[in-house]
Amino acid sequence: MSKTALITGASSGIGLELAKIFAANNINLVLVARSENKLKALSAELHAKHNIGVTVLAFDLSDYNNAQKVFDACTAAYIQIDYLVNNAGFGDFGLFHESDWHKQEQMINLNITTLTYLTRLFIPGMIAQRAGKIVNVASTASFQPGPTMSVYYATKAYVLSFSEAISNELEPYGITVTALCPGATESDFQNKADMHESRLVKGRKLPTSAAVAAYGYAAMMKGQVVAIHGFMNQIMAESIRFTPRFLVRKIVRFIQDKK
Ligand SMILES: NC(=O)c1ccc[n+]([C@@H]2O[C@H](COP(=O)([O-])OP(=O)(O)OC[C@H]3O[C@@H](n4cnc5c(N)ncnc54)[C@H](OP(=O)(O)O)[C@@H]3O)[C@@H](O)[C@H]2O)c1
Repeated sequence: MSKTALITGASSGIGLELAKIFAANNINLVLVARSENKLKALSAELHAKHNIGVTVLAFDLSDYNNAQKVFDACTAAYIQIDYLVNNAGFGDFGLFHESDWHKQEQMINLNITTLTYLTRLFIPGMIAQRAGKIVNVASTASFQPGPTMSVYYATKAYVLSFSEAISNELEPYGITVTALCPGATESDFQNKADMHESRLVKGRKLPTSAAVAAYGYAAMMKGQVVAIHGFMNQIMAESIRFTPRFLVRKIVRFIQDKK
């Protein structure tokens, strides 16, 4: 029987590229994001190209109550989720004490609460099948505090910690959990986070969303728990563990600051 992947944030960037890869591997899709028109266009394209089943669910996932609605819509349509990809997320550049609280709250809801809630809702179905794969999109931001993007970095530290912990709990049930950790990647992320002036991205050629998605898909299929995209990112994530924390904070502030 053909399998189904649910991808949040499938209307753009890494999520959209992951949708294309799942489709090319004959895996049916449930696509979730707010931009219904973009999801419908992608659905039509992937159905025509690969003859797979695609369901579009337009929800604002910064309202975490919508996680239950996503789950209920799948249940009502008798869709069993074999691959859960918690990819939707955003960041916000700037000093925390000057930030818009509502934006931080939405970020925490989306990056943390909805991701956790969706995972909780879909795991029992996977346990019943004794199979399943979960990808939670974390970041290289997961490995250290991030002055000028403090809340975003903290949300991604949560995603990494949560994913590693449940990967251990779910191992006996044949379920794998992958924390995909991209570094700065070409997508709409920088626009939405208002971080074009940051040294982290300004004037730099970034890896494409397609490259990150291909890496993440392969890592998920292997059941790799922590998947850091890019050799230099892997070195940095490891070396941070041996660097004094006061220095890490200063280095990240320098890298993050406006150029
Ligand atoms: N790009 C990077 O540099 C980078 C680096 C490390 C990690 N990441 C992570 O990678 C993931 C994907 O980001 P991306 O780079 O592909 O950025 P993107 O191009 O901005 O895509 C973000 C996706 O999330 C969806 N989304 C945002 N807010 C949502 C909401 N309230 N409800 C439902 N869906 C929502 C967007 O769809 P709608 O706007 O249609 O809702 C879009 O499909 C995020 O978790 C991000 O933190 C990105």
